[in-house]
Amino acid sequence: MNDEGYRAAWKALDLLEDWLTTGYSRPHPDLVLEKTGSREPAAAGAPAAVPDRAAQLADLTSEVSACVKCGLAANRNTTVPGEGSLDPEVLFIGEGPGAEEDRTGRPFVGAAGKYLDTWLPPIGLVREQCFIANCVKCRPPQNREPHPDEIGACLPYLARQIAILKPRIICCLGRIAAQTVLRTTASLGELRGRIHRLPLELQQPDGEAIPVVVTYHPSAVLRDKATLRKPVWDDLKLLKSLLAK
Ligand code: URA
Ligand code: SF4
Repeated sequence: MNDEGYRAAWKALDLLEDWLTTGYSRPHPDLVLEKTGSREPAAAGAPAAVPDRAAQLADLTSEVSACVKCGLAANRNTTVPGEGSLDPEVLFIGEGPGAEEDRTGRPFVGAAGKYLDTWLPPIGLVREQCFIANCVKCRPPQNREPHPDEIGACLPYLARQIAILKPRIICCLGRIAAQTVLRTTASLGELRGRIHRLPLELQQPDGEAIPVVVTYHPSAVLRDKATLRKPVWDDLKLLKSLLAK
C-alpha cells in the first residue's frame, strides 16, 4: 500500500471508531460511501429470478411459521425467518432471535441489530442490500445458545434460504453461526480473518462455492468493544475486499 492508501485506511478506521462507539456517523469529506450494490437497483438485470425467489421465500416463511420440528417452538411468540434483499450482496447469519425479534418477527432489530446496522456503511452497504437470517428461527428461552439438535432441526431452512437467495457472500456473526455454516468445531478465533468456502452439504448441486467470512457477534462486541472492535473491522475490510471483486 502506498502512503495515500495508508492515510485513507487510517481515516476510515478513525471514522469507524466513531460509528462503532456511538452509532453516529458524522459527515466525513474523505470517505465516500459509494454503494457496492450494483445489484439492488439492477433488479432489471435479474427480473425473472426475483419474483421466483419471492414466491419460494414466502413458501419457506409459511412453513417456518407452522414448524414444530424442535423444542424451541413451545416458547416462541413468533417465528423469525429472516428478511432482506432477494438478490443480496451479503447474507448475514446470526444465532437466533432475541426478545425484540421474537416480539416483532424480524431479525436483528434489538440492540445487536442496531449495532450491526452501523457496521454496514463503512463497507459501502446498507441493510436493504443484504439478507439477514439466523441459525434457528425461534427464540431460545432466556437467549440461551441453541442446542445442537435444535440447530440441526432448523438447518434445512437456512440451507434453502442460501439456495434460493444465492448471496454473493455469506458473513457469519459469532461462533454458533460460524460453526453451523462451516460444519466445524473450530473456535471463532481460528475461523475469523480468512475466506472460507461454503461446504458442499450447504451448496446446491449446481451452485457455486459461495465465499464465507466470519466475525464476532455484534452482542459480543457490545460487551467488549475494547478487545473486539479491531478484529471486527479487519473482518469487515476482508468482506469489503470481496464485495469489490
Ligand atoms: N442475535 C442474533 O443472533 N440474531 C438476532 O436476530 C438478534 C440477535
Ligand atoms: Fe422449527 Fe427452527 Fe423453530 Fe425449531 S427453531 S421449531 S426447527 S423453525
